[in-house]
Amino acid sequence: MVSDELWRIVSADVPLVQEVQGHLMGMKGKLFRPTLLLLSAAVDDQPQSRAVTYAAVVELIHLATLVHDDAVDHSALRRGMPTVNSLFSHQVSVIMGDYLYLRALRELVTLADLEAMRVITMASNEMTLGEMRQLSAFDALAFTERDYETLIRAKTGSLFMAACEVGALCGAPQHRDALVRFGERLGMAFQVADDLLDYTEGQEMTGKPSGLDLKEHKMTLPLIAALREMPDHDRRRVETLFATVTPDDDAISDVVAIVRENGGLDYARRRGDLFAREAEDALSELPDSPARSALVDAIAYVVERRW
Ligand code: IPE
Ligand code: IPE
Ligand code: MG
Ligand code: MG
Repeated sequence: MVSDELWRIVSADVPLVQEVQGHLMGMKGKLFRPTLLLLSAAVDDQPQSRAVTYAAVVELIHLATLVHDDAVDHSALRRGMPTVNSLFSHQVSVIMGDYLYLRALRELVTLADLEAMRVITMASNEMTLGEMRQLSAFDALAFTERDYETLIRAKTGSLFMAACEVGALCGAPQHRDALVRFGERLGMAFQVADDLLDYTEGQEMTGKPSGLDLKEHKMTLPLIAALREMPDHDRRRVETLFATVTPDDDAISDVVAIVRENGGLDYARRRGDLFAREAEDALSELPDSPARSALVDAIAYVVERRW
């Protein structure tokens, strides 16, 4: 089981680490990336048993990025529970995120599979650059759809690609390229859906704060698309929000309404569907199998998900 492997890999005898770990392991995530890895490994044949360990490693890297991301985004809620930064401290988040990364790395070194290590290391590197790109977007309102796509490919697509690629290495090497392409497009669809949920769903559903992207002045696709359509007086309200250090809830709901009225949500939905269709196209060369059908179902899940 992936969760047993996770526990094994992160165990340590430092009390604070154990405490934070207990909290993190109690937060139930979707385990989506490990699922993709295991399915990719099973598209053709019986997967190698190390696939489960790799699945845990990939989830661990994901978890490390979430711990850091919540500290960077000043977020108080994750998976319906308090984040490490809110429950412990910013310092603990920094160290704990590092710890999780390094545990994942240690496990990879133990397995001594240079190719898998290369794939996962490159992806982690890409993700970091993506997060950094987001943080350093100098003139946020000038951020284009193209910039956005480059960003989401790096910060989300790369780990999805790595999960599928390592899966392929564990059972379907002849389908490696197709699975990488699938992971890329699916990851991008997943992030578009996530960015939509920030506009459309409350925290009871997603387990994360809603409207946080606007609060943190993050340019995501709904806003990028709406800005292209909006009249000057609406644009000025968006500019005011971006010029306010901590916008209040009213200012955020105003801009959410403006984005909806100017077609930003509809546009993002259509773009997300397009990424999803590209993901499905990538699967066309795979032989019929239960794992392939499950990957097709995963696409529908990404498009329809509400948490
Ligand atoms: C959250 O990922 C981060 C994004 C890339 C949007 P998930 O939505 O997969 O988070 P968990 O693991 O299920 O909590
Ligand atoms: C995804 O971005 C974070 C990573 C890929 C590390 P978000 O900031 O949108 O993710 P959430 O909404 O906090 O889960
Ligand atoms: Mg975040
Ligand atoms: Mg988000």
